[in-house]
Amino acid sequence: MNIILIGFMRSGKSTISQELGKRLGLAVVDMDDMIEQKAQMRTPKIFEKFGENRFRELETEVAMEVGSMRDIIVATGGGVIVYSINIEYLKQNGGKIIYLHTSFDEIKRRVQKHSRPRPLFKNTEEAKKLYLLRLSTYQHVSDIAITTDNKEISVIVDEIIRQLNV
Ligand code: S3P
Repeated sequence: MNIILIGFMRSGKSTISQELGKRLGLAVVDMDDMIEQKAQMRTPKIFEKFGENRFRELETEVAMEVGSMRDIIVATGGGVIVYSINIEYLKQNGGKIIYLHTSFDEIKRRVQKHSRPRPLFKNTEEAKKLYLLRLSTYQHVSDIAITTDNKEISVIVDEIIRQLNV
């Protein structure tokens, strides 16, 4: 069974997936890394040179590839839910979708603290619009939703393992 982590930028998908991988002894695949490898450039550069649509095309290719793998943990990019086909691909092989829910205030704090450049988080107002737009989709497509605000990583990982019953 694959375990797929979804959620807005800075909801903790990469960190939690690494911890979950260690705890369950499963390999971790990061979709943003795979996209960057395919394009041979970093994400902001892909957006700048080819636009968001090209990034989304690559993201769908990667979702298809990842969906055919087995027993892996998948860290997705925040926009993976923009196209529902991605979720269909990721759910192949009985993939379980975990939504890491984080309040916008907490996300804002995390972005301000330390963050790699994110083309879709240029300013708070736009990012908040995107957050509100996506919120119900994250909830709708997920099998399990976990709130991450004020929680230690190990607590979140425990909760995921408990709810997955693995
Ligand atoms: C995006 C989120 C990013 C990355 C790209 C687009 C989005 O991933 O895929 O910049 O649309 O929310 P993270 O969620 O890991 O920041």
